[in-house]
Amino acid sequence: MKVLILNGPNLNLLGKREPEVYGAESFDDYLKALRAKLPHITIEYYQSNVEGELINQLHKADDHGYEVILFNAGAYTHTSVAIGDAVAGITTPVIEVHISNVMKREEFRHVSYISKHAAGVISGFGLLGYELGMHYLSIR
Ligand code: DQA
Repeated sequence: MKVLILNGPNLNLLGKREPEVYGAESFDDYLKALRAKLPHITIEYYQSNVEGELINQLHKADDHGYEVILFNAGAYTHTSVAIGDAVAGITTPVIEVHISNVMKREEFRHVSYISKHAAGVISGFGLLGYELGMHYLSIR
């Protein structure tokens, strides 16, 4: 079983970035623990701050045989028609993940160009949201 975690802009700063919102753990540390906890799942990981690179990864995903993509597009969630179109244009299911509860935050974060094309949305559970997204594998 193979899964892609795709993280967008500023998520490389997890652990340092606004820890009161996103927590104090780095994504590398979290990912290491997650891989150790779920050894039966091959978890591939890609992060980019560049919109087009995220789109390229989405396009490539269909050829890689991922069961699901756990996608945190960061602020592009709320702004990028192109990323929404890319999610709509592939057949691999996408789960939209947000570390914070975006609905509890500023109004501009209440808009998502991804949700409409996603298999599901997880928001507000901290980094645990990525692990929760893995449960999609048992209901699909
Ligand atoms: C985020 C929420 C977005 O609004 C924000 O721009 C991020 C992170 C989250 O994981 O909570 O960069 O996607």
